[in-house]
Amino acid sequence: MATPTKPINLGLLFGGRSCEHEISVTSARSILRAINRHKYNISLLGIDKAGQWHLADNFDSLLSDGAVQPAAAGKLPRGGGGVEPVTLALHPNGNLRTLRDSPPLPHHQLPQLEVIFPALHGTFGEDGALQGVLEMAGIPYVGCGVAASAVAMDKLLAKKIFQLAGIPQAAYIGLSASQWQHTGARAALMARGEAELGYPMFVKPANLGSSVGISKVRAPAQLKNAIELALRFDHKILLEQAMENCVEAECAVLGNAMLGAQQQHRPQASVVGEIIPHAEFYDYAAKYLDDQSELVVPANIPRAAAAQVRELSLAAFQEIDGAGLARVDFFVSRASGRVTLNEINTMPGFTPISMYPRLWAASGVPYAELIDRLIELAVQTQRAKAALQRSV
Ligand SMILES: Nc1ncnc2c1ncn2[C@@H]1O[C@H](COP(=O)(O)OP(=O)(O)O)[C@@H](O)[C@H]1O
Ligand SMILES: [Mg+2]
Repeated sequence: MATPTKPINLGLLFGGRSCEHEISVTSARSILRAINRHKYNISLLGIDKAGQWHLADNFDSLLSDGAVQPAAAGKLPRGGGGVEPVTLALHPNGNLRTLRDSPPLPHHQLPQLEVIFPALHGTFGEDGALQGVLEMAGIPYVGCGVAASAVAMDKLLAKKIFQLAGIPQAAYIGLSASQWQHTGARAALMARGEAELGYPMFVKPANLGSSVGISKVRAPAQLKNAIELALRFDHKILLEQAMENCVEAECAVLGNAMLGAQQQHRPQASVVGEIIPHAEFYDYAAKYLDDQSELVVPANIPRAAAAQVRELSLAAFQEIDGAGLARVDFFVSRASGRVTLNEINTMPGFTPISMYPRLWAASGVPYAELIDRLIELAVQTQRAKAALQRSV
């Protein structure tokens, strides 16, 4: 009889400070529902909107109105069935500690985490900041590292890196708040945008997600407002040529780009899917508020275009030195089949109906297995990094 392997202490992190807090809660709920409880001892770690971490043994006790709420949060079972709230900090080697203002808890009641699944999207989740904390704590974690996360989150940095790699992208111009501050320079900046990009044009904050702060600008009179809206969300923004009459195609990557990764851990690209937004473009409402946008798998694009999407997805993942997962988004011209990279997301939505897991399900990797593979990749990445550190 095979000896049962010891369950892994897994911290499932969710919520967080970004505007994608609620989406993260939904992703985490789906992971919890599907994960193999024989393989993992799960600690639920909810991060509230103020950034405080809370631990619970029960998902719903952390939540109120779909968000992590401090008042209801952090209930840990104690002797006699009572519960007390705890607020946490993460220390090296996966040790959790209660903060000073929490009631003291016996150390053995706090789990020592062996791996973390940060099911967090957007700022302070997907942008490298949390990944830095986890690196400092020395805990393996699912997904891309500090640099890959930060670059993927910053549309301007990502554009520059992909440009160097020769990956086709929409023409763009970067613009900073300090450039815009010079009121005398504004007319020239806008004229340059018009001359180089034309209308329609997209205006976006560099560091955000979920289409927040993004405008499609159709005429000169709208440009100034669109720039000022985007600058409310970030100190640097992009003006981008609109890719008209295109299919929005998406591809999922799974694996580690790290040089020397074993064969079974090398990045793989899924089948290609298609988004049909129920709006002029895939804006916040189309993404999350109405459920009429359609995800179609496989995408209705020519075979050669799909092959190119997969190839460019792997190239983009390799360029940012990705680890674990990423969803790579493209525009495919209906007229010419030409493929243009839009962006790479290092922690895409993770419910079973989200594109990333759906693409893997359609490629033969069901949801629960996908979770296992991601956790295995996290452990493998950490091992490879530790081996490198030892050899220094
Ligand atoms: N250059 C573009 N041409 C056409 N549509 C675009 C362009 N840029 C963005 N969009 C539309 O806006 C949506 C959101 O833009 P995106 O750059 O993907 O930002 P986010 O990180 O918020 O998802 C896209 O899914 C697409 O529908
Ligand atoms: Mg997008």
